[in-house]
Amino acid sequence: MLTEKDKITSLNRIGVALSSANRLEELFELIVTECRKFTNADAGSLFTIEDGKLIFRVAQTESLERKLGYKPPFKAFPLPMTKKSVAGYVAVTGEIIHVDDCYELDPEKGPGFDRSYDEKMDYRSKSMLTVPMRDEQGEVIGVIQLINALDESRVKIIPFPQEMVELMQSIASQAAVALQNARLIAEIKNLFAAFVKYSATAIDERSPHTAGHTRRVAGLTMRIANAMNMAKTGDFAEVFFSNQELEELWFAAWLHDIGKIAVKESVLEKNSRIPFDRLNWIISRLKYNLLQLEIEELKGSRGDETALNGEKITSAKAQVQSDIEFISKLNTAGFLPPEDEARLQVITARTFQDIDGSLKPMIDEYEFKNLSIKRGNLTAEEWCEMRSHVIKTRTIVKNIPFTKGLKNVADIAAGHHEMVDGSGYPLGIKGDQLPLQARIMAVADIYDALTAADRPYKKAIPFDKSIAILREDAAKGKLDSRVVEFMIENKLYEGHLEDQAEYPWKIEVF
Ligand SMILES: [Fe+2]
Ligand SMILES: [Fe+2]
Repeated sequence: MLTEKDKITSLNRIGVALSSANRLEELFELIVTECRKFTNADAGSLFTIEDGKLIFRVAQTESLERKLGYKPPFKAFPLPMTKKSVAGYVAVTGEIIHVDDCYELDPEKGPGFDRSYDEKMDYRSKSMLTVPMRDEQGEVIGVIQLINALDESRVKIIPFPQEMVELMQSIASQAAVALQNARLIAEIKNLFAAFVKYSATAIDERSPHTAGHTRRVAGLTMRIANAMNMAKTGDFAEVFFSNQELEELWFAAWLHDIGKIAVKESVLEKNSRIPFDRLNWIISRLKYNLLQLEIEELKGSRGDETALNGEKITSAKAQVQSDIEFISKLNTAGFLPPEDEARLQVITARTFQDIDGSLKPMIDEYEFKNLSIKRGNLTAEEWCEMRSHVIKTRTIVKNIPFTKGLKNVADIAAGHHEMVDGSGYPLGIKGDQLPLQARIMAVADIYDALTAADRPYKKAIPFDKSIAILREDAAKGKLDSRVVEFMIENKLYEGHLEDQAEYPWKIEVF
């Protein structure tokens, strides 16, 4: 028999426990655990009411778990909201069902007890107390069902004492308030997660070069982190990311390139050494040069003595034709060999006579600077602009008032281009100062950049070669070799292209 003081202490303890749950699933389990503890019940279930549907959320049977040695897996599922089942009856009517033997419930007269679970698990449900969870407005938002109250030795099944009925009503109300609060928080988080996801997707979609990149990086990052949590042996056996850390990583991964929104589109979109309209200007100048040579040729054929020598014209024409081809080819991003740079210099040094008779450079300063890029398609200033996206990411993410548990999102997000040896950017953080989360993102980001078919400065690199490049970067001390090998060994890249990187704490909708 509980004293008044015992009752108050227990109710307080349950109230505190219920308000400590961070996630809805955690709270569902906690409500049942606490109610079982309070009533000394062997089994308990929880049902919620959503959009007029009854959702079976939690099932716990202590003696069964002990017998099996593990908790049987359970996935929430919807049930018909009818008065035929015990939970449905309580949900619809708001009445309590308190019986000494649930097998004696007569389905002809009221709700019947579904014995299928007992039959499957070789269990016998007997005493039962099922109470509605009412919110502050008195509306039923869920049902708690307790089965088989045990005596103090926890062996014999006894009826639920009458005094427990009232107390369970109070606990169910506390649980309802905790559930409403947790649901509200979950809804706000869902809303924000969806906003982050669709904003990042919209920024990626601005350019075919980045479309899908953030989603794929977020997917691969979470795959690696979750696999580390499961690892029982190896380099990451000791690593365990808490739920909050995983959530932090999810936001960081989805926000890692958000700073690209502030990068000039001309840089983000650049897919050749110079834009095609500028390339056409150069080709037009060369063609104009060709036309002038043809005029000279015509003059010579008509016996004009001022015309240039015929052989010289033929060779000059061939040279210009070949220069046109050379310049067009040069505009494709890639590596610029020294002989090509030398030839570009020769063409640049040439002039052409404009329509007004003035001499103009065949290739101007801007064109030479861009066409002579040694590797890729960005000049040093453009690289600077491109790299600044991480600083912009940090600034944007730092301004989001994340809750305390998610305070590292900005640092992780802005750390995806940092390298273990300190050669990364923007801060050149190295060694242990670089959090594991940032190292994981660095591997995921590079793997996706290599295997993506849509980058401006290169085509997709085949899988084997991409892996070889990752290993090379790891050997140089840039990437964390343990992370690289962990991803490869566990084949975490498989299916990453389609990974939707959904917010893992989304409220399940039925
Ligand atoms: Fe980036
Ligand atoms: Fe990225």
